[in-house]
Amino acid sequence: MANKVAESTSIDSVLHEDRKFECPESFSQQAHIPSLAEYDRIYRESVEEPEKFWGRIAGELHWFKKWDKVLEWNCPWAKWFVGGQINLSYNCLDRHVGTARKNKAAIIWESEPGEVRTLTYQQLHREVQKFANVLKSLGVQKGDRVAIYMGMTPELPVAMLACARIGATHTVVFGGFSSNALVDRIHDSQATTVITQDGSYRRGAEVKLFPAVEEALKSCPSVKNVVIYQRTGSAINTQPGRDHWWHDLMAKASDECPAEPLDAEHPLYILYTSGTTGKPKGLVHTTGGYAVGTYLTTKWVFDLKEEDTYWCTADIGWVTGHSYIVYGPLQNGAAVLMYEGAPNFPEPDRFWDIIDRHKVSILYTAPTAIRTFIKWGDQWPNKHKLDSLRLLGTVGEPINPEAWIWYHETIGHSRCPIVDTWWQTETGNMMLTPIPGAIATKPGSATKPFPGVVAEVVDIEGKPVPAGSGGFLIIRQPWPGMARTIYGDPERYKQQYWSQIPGTYFTGDGARKDKDGYFWVMGRVDDVINVSGHRLSTMEVESALVAHEAVAEAAVVGRPDDVKGQAISAFVTLEQGRKPTNELKEELRKWVAKEIGSLAKPDDIRFTDTLPKTRSGKIMRRLLRELATSGEVKGDTTTLEDFSVLAKLKDSDES
Ligand code: PRX
Repeated sequence: MANKVAESTSIDSVLHEDRKFECPESFSQQAHIPSLAEYDRIYRESVEEPEKFWGRIAGELHWFKKWDKVLEWNCPWAKWFVGGQINLSYNCLDRHVGTARKNKAAIIWESEPGEVRTLTYQQLHREVQKFANVLKSLGVQKGDRVAIYMGMTPELPVAMLACARIGATHTVVFGGFSSNALVDRIHDSQATTVITQDGSYRRGAEVKLFPAVEEALKSCPSVKNVVIYQRTGSAINTQPGRDHWWHDLMAKASDECPAEPLDAEHPLYILYTSGTTGKPKGLVHTTGGYAVGTYLTTKWVFDLKEEDTYWCTADIGWVTGHSYIVYGPLQNGAAVLMYEGAPNFPEPDRFWDIIDRHKVSILYTAPTAIRTFIKWGDQWPNKHKLDSLRLLGTVGEPINPEAWIWYHETIGHSRCPIVDTWWQTETGNMMLTPIPGAIATKPGSATKPFPGVVAEVVDIEGKPVPAGSGGFLIIRQPWPGMARTIYGDPERYKQQYWSQIPGTYFTGDGARKDKDGYFWVMGRVDDVINVSGHRLSTMEVESALVAHEAVAEAAVVGRPDDVKGQAISAFVTLEQGRKPTNELKEELRKWVAKEIGSLAKPDDIRFTDTLPKTRSGKIMRRLLRELATSGEVKGDTTTLEDFSVLAKLKDSDES
């Protein structure tokens, strides 16, 4: 079988949640899509005549040359807006500077120490043009890959938009990833240039970034130039000829750089995400379709209006930041708030303080953050008015109904609709989501498909399961924002996503659809775990562990965690002669952080003599999951090779 699905082929659905929240009348009246009937009408058209629908939406953007054909579909290879020429930087900037938006805030940035910097559309346009000229002066050409390893400063979107402007393909690497993770991504993408900064601020301290780049470049010969933005001013060792200061190059750069007309299928970016193997996949997003998908979802799902102040709390290192901090909102001419640091600096009310001071009207955050706020206590949001908010959103993992209700009442004061948006790095834009004003919500459900999305819950043969039953979430038709391939590995793209149930896109998530046609996403059905809304492959963590000289074998599973959604449990067998000490556990945790990044640090490590395996030698992760979750194994053990292993594993708990 191509893509490894869970060991079982049926999925039990256990969540029963009957509450339903109608759209507030006052919201519907002013919404882009004001009723369910209107959503139904649009949805019907979008799936019956997708080319007509998407062609009309694409017409709201600027094209240097109109497309000849909306879609060319040769499963799994899609081409959208064939023959069209477009530039995303143009659509995010130039399209607005000739209008009243010229002096509107594009980015309102608040640093962790408290500084506020605002870039209007015109100012951002100028910065982007200058940096595009900087890239050109370093020899970066259309089609070259540029790696970006930065913190949450406005220069990060400036760098992305400058790449998009000249047709260089960016690959943003989350600043929390380690030097080794950066090496893998630079090798895979063969980036010629790296854009970074000396450091960033988090929880009152500097998080250094440049040293990781310096370390990585010892083994990355493809990189010829590094541009360093000076944020913290800490001392760094630059290498003459290779390393350049952002401010030096910008001082010399001209502020005119026309946007390059690019083929609609020109690669905009590569973003790496975990799959079921140890090697992250570089998902390739192209220009035209992605532009249309992010533009429309931002407009309709956030019901975005000219006067909104919009804040997405994600890091731009993840797809959420790409689509819903940079490309979607800026194409819509939104005022985008961007925050550099931690939610509890200097106090746990930083988010609520930011919302009140900047009069944020739309907040988009993650369930893991919401659960953390609940833990910190209501006194923190209660200190603030929060009356500027009109819409709330979540993304990244299933939201438990308790957290949903808390978000609704304590943050939204029972007034703001909540959009629980399901989508993936691969999908590029939101796929299942309420449209506020049109679709009533149910806590824990991502509700209905966005127009143009044909989603279904099926069994392993691809047959739809009855309402209320669990199954695999699949997408039947192509959509404009979809990833086009895995960089350098089209075969893996085909195998992973389009071969499990032939002809359909396999999401890797389990879900059920209720009698009202609402989708309830239950989580991954493969070896991907979701820790604080971040995807990790169990194989990736296992590979990191076995790379340590003391480790013979490792098996990693996710177990439920109240705050993070899932926590990482590792079962480790040691090389002969190595002692299972607490110091070694700590050393291994640090080792994984160094290999991948601290988000991958196992929460618990258990040393064991043997791992439970089938007769064919496959590790029975299901048993380990049960053990990590409940401390015992009740499930089916008939395929286990050596039954004494289980008893030994339980004993290992006490080590
Ligand atoms: O399991 C689903 C979960 O996050 C996965 C995608 O992760 P990533 O590519 O990192 O993108 C995260 C941000 C778009 C999905 O396969 N997921 C994401 N959003 C939701 C969700 N699970 C349930 N409900 C959601 N709203």
